[in-house]
Amino acid sequence: MLGPMPDTDLEGLLAEQIAYYRTRAAEYDATYPLDARADADARAQLRTAMERFAPYGRVLELACGTGQWTVELARHATTVTAVDAAPEALAICRRRVADAAVQLVEADLFAWRPRERYDFVFFSAWLSHVPPQRFDAFWDLVADCLTPAGRVFVIDELPAVAAVDRAAPGQPAPAVRRALTTGQAFRAVKVLYAPGELRARLTALGWDVDIETVGWRFFCASLRRGEA
Ligand SMILES: C[S@@+](CC[C@H](N)C(=O)[O-])C[C@H]1O[C@@H](n2cnc3c(N)ncnc32)[C@H](O)[C@@H]1O
Repeated sequence: MLGPMPDTDLEGLLAEQIAYYRTRAAEYDATYPLDARADADARAQLRTAMERFAPYGRVLELACGTGQWTVELARHATTVTAVDAAPEALAICRRRVADAAVQLVEADLFAWRPRERYDFVFFSAWLSHVPPQRFDAFWDLVADCLTPAGRVFVIDELPAVAAVDRAAPGQPAPAVRRALTTGQAFRAVKVLYAPGELRARLTALGWDVDIETVGWRFFCASLRRGEA
């Protein structure tokens, strides 16, 4: 029987995931389903849920991409620090959010460490790109980014989305194969959590978590550090 894949295979997959989003940046806004008419209601519901959880003060956005949510955060926050590994996506984000209170940082989130603490940490369509082997370390990073009363808001996709994605079997983490309009294809990590499973895993890591499903495709989660 084959043993576990070496970590270099996982590093290769994570590098390909970044290459995918760098290459896709120019077509991302036209192809991401939240921009599709059928998902407009879902976007409005997700925005309302996020606003209910009060994205005020110093806000950190992880994997901001082209800034579809950065622009929403900037409406409420005192400052926004938005981190992403794809400079091409950050350039689009900067054009979309031309606000001096929004600082963009180009960095690999599996190596990046915060220089300050934030009142609110947000990420959309990112948790599903974190491989299971890095799940606990990623949530340690999120905790390190927060002030003691800090809050976290997460948006991602539900397991039903697997039916419309193309699985890439035999990878060092659950993954999909995605093609761009040019035909160029890439692998990307895709881990889809049922809300109950995600709640149990985060509770075990010491988070208080509420999860709400939005339509068939999305969930949003509101988190705080639990009492020690
Ligand atoms: C599905 S997009 C989500 C973008 C944005 N949050 C949104 O909801 O539209 C995933 C983002 O993760 C970024 N990304 C991928 N790997 C990364 C890494 N190792 N470190 C930082 N960002 C990464 C990509 O560049 C891309 O912008």
